[in-house]
Amino acid sequence: MKIAVINFSGNVGKSTIARHLLLPRIPGAALIAIESLNADEGQGTALRGRQFGELQEYLQTVASVVVDIGASNVEDLMGQMQRYRGSHEDFDGFVVPTVPRLKQQMDTIATLVELNRIGVPASRLKLVFNMVEDGVTVAQAFDPLLTFLKQQPIARANPRCCLGANEIYARLKGTKADLATLANDPTDYKALIVQAKGTSEKVALAQKLATRRLASGVVPELDACYSALELKT
Ligand SMILES: Nc1ncnc2c1ncn2[C@@H]1O[C@H](COP(=O)(O)OP(=O)(O)O)[C@@H](O)[C@H]1O
Ligand SMILES: [Mg+2]
Repeated sequence: MKIAVINFSGNVGKSTIARHLLLPRIPGAALIAIESLNADEGQGTALRGRQFGELQEYLQTVASVVVDIGASNVEDLMGQMQRYRGSHEDFDGFVVPTVPRLKQQMDTIATLVELNRIGVPASRLKLVFNMVEDGVTVAQAFDPLLTFLKQQPIARANPRCCLGANEIYARLKGTKADLATLANDPTDYKALIVQAKGTSEKVALAQKLATRRLASGVVPELDACYSALELKT
C-alpha cells in the first residue's frame, strides 16, 4: 500500500501521522519525507519536490510506502502530478491531516480542491481530524471544512478518523521510539524507582513510566483512527 500524507499547511501533523499512525500499521512500509530543507528530524529519506521523476521510479519499485510531503513541497509536487498525467494513481490513498485552527481548515480545503483538480477521486482522499480537544466534537471543531464538504463531497470525512491532542508526540520527537514498543515495554519501573539511588535517576524512570502510560493510552486511539480510514484497496 502506498500512501501520501499531504497538506498545504504546516503543523497539521503530517509527519506525526506518517510516523505514528500509518507507518506502524502498513506491513513492510518505508517512510519517505519530502522536505525542502530536510527539517524533518532526520526521519526517512529527504527528496526534493523537483526530484519527482525519481520519486515516481521509486514508487514503482516498492510495495508499501508512506510519503510525508512537507508543506513547502506540496505546490511543486501538485504541479508535477498535473504534468505527469495520472501519476497520482501511484498512490492508493492521500491522507490529509487537518487541525481546528481556521487558517488550517482553509488550507485544507485548498489542498482537497487541488487534489480533486488533478484527478484524485473522493474514495482515495481521506481526512484525519487531528488535535481535537477533549469535550469538543469533530462536527463542532471542523464546521467550516465539513460545511464545504457537504456542498462539494470531494473527500472522505469520517469523524472517527480523529486524534486527540496528546503530549506523547512531543515526547517522542527526536527519538526513534515507536509507540507500540513503548506501550508493550515490560520493565517494572515502580520496582526500579524504589531501588534507584538518587532523585534524578528516580525522575528519569518516572518519566519513562509516564511515557509508557501515555503510549498505552494512545495506541488504541491510533488503531481506531487507522481502521476508520479504510485504506485497504
Ligand atoms: N495529536 C497531536 N497532539 C499533540 N501534538 C501534536 C499532535 N499532532 C501533531 N502534534 C505536534 O504538532 C507539531 C506539528 O506536527 P507535525 O507532525 O510536525 O506537523 P507537519 O508535519 O504537518 O508540519 C509537532 O510538534 C507535533 O509533535
Ligand atoms: Mg512535517
